[in-house]
Amino acid sequence: MTAEGEHAVAGSASLVAPGRVAVITGAASGIGLGLAERFAAEGMRVVLADVEEPALAAAAARLADQGASVLAVPTDVSSADQVAALRDAAVAEFGAVHVLCNNAGVGGSHGPLWEISAGDWEWVLRVNLGGVINGIRAFVPVLIEQDAAHIVNTASVFGVFAGALGPYGISKHAIVALSETLYFQLHSLAPHVGVSVLCPGAVRTRFGSSARNRPAWAGPAPTPTAAERASAERFDQLQEAAGADPADVAEVVVAGIRSSRFYLLTSANRNAAIVRRGEEIVAGGPPAAPFP
Ligand SMILES: NC(=O)c1ccc[n+]([C@@H]2O[C@H](COP(=O)([O-])OP(=O)(O)OC[C@H]3O[C@@H](n4cnc5c(N)ncnc54)[C@H](O)[C@@H]3O)[C@@H](O)[C@H]2O)c1
Repeated sequence: MTAEGEHAVAGSASLVAPGRVAVITGAASGIGLGLAERFAAEGMRVVLADVEEPALAAAAARLADQGASVLAVPTDVSSADQVAALRDAAVAEFGAVHVLCNNAGVGGSHGPLWEISAGDWEWVLRVNLGGVINGIRAFVPVLIEQDAAHIVNTASVFGVFAGALGPYGISKHAIVALSETLYFQLHSLAPHVGVSVLCPGAVRTRFGSSARNRPAWAGPAPTPTAAERASAERFDQLQEAAGADPADVAEVVVAGIRSSRFYLLTSANRNAAIVRRGEEIVAGGPPAAPFP
């Protein structure tokens, strides 16, 4: 351990560097686009994956115009076959993958769990958690063959304290647990492959309109109650007023890869809720609401 939360991983310091290859899911917008722009600015070759094809094509064209080496691969991360095809396309184009960002995610509804439709549960869990699982299963065997590699899974600060954000928060807790498991396994079996879990607070992105990518099989989006609408409005206001810029999140990620930091928080303003959850678990609970 080099400093609190940092573990030395062979070669990780040189991963964000010219010629290295990054694959980013959910790269057409928000945090994913911010990561792609930053990696490209560092001279990396970037593979952009997203389900929203026009936005993906526009993002790739803009980066290419700025001189970046870019490959755009339309991908629905909830499909294991499509994520395997993404891996094959990345390796065919650039010959290697050094940084994998499993970042694509959607919001879904936040109502009482027993009232959420089966389609809603399935959509959020298949994209958010299933997307990371598909990324790990497709890419880890390739990453292990590299001299060094790093995986960044995007969870949320809602994945590290007790919250009430429905399937979304549950999927993000699962991504944190998956990332911790992956860290232990790679640390002992392939220590040259690092892992980080990104837990952003509010970031100014298009996340509030996740339903634009809701598939038909998930059924119609439920009509939110007045309380849910109010909560969504508060969330949007918070994002606008206090949300970080995706470029700032990319800075946290690049610094985190370079120093092999595992938990990547983008602000300290939920630290008390994170610590309180640990204390409540030890004390027997019950959980307190994360916000006053
Ligand atoms: N914005 C925030 O405040 C915030 C906070 C914490 C965590 N996050 C997480 O950050 C990640 C990125 O979200 P964002 O805020 O940039 O939102 P965004 O909507 O701007 O970007 C998400 C991208 O994911 C893509 N996507 C959606 N479903 C997909 C699928 N099935 N396959 C492939 N791509 C898909 C979208 O088309 C979009 O380009 C998500 O995992 C989200 O949960 C966001």
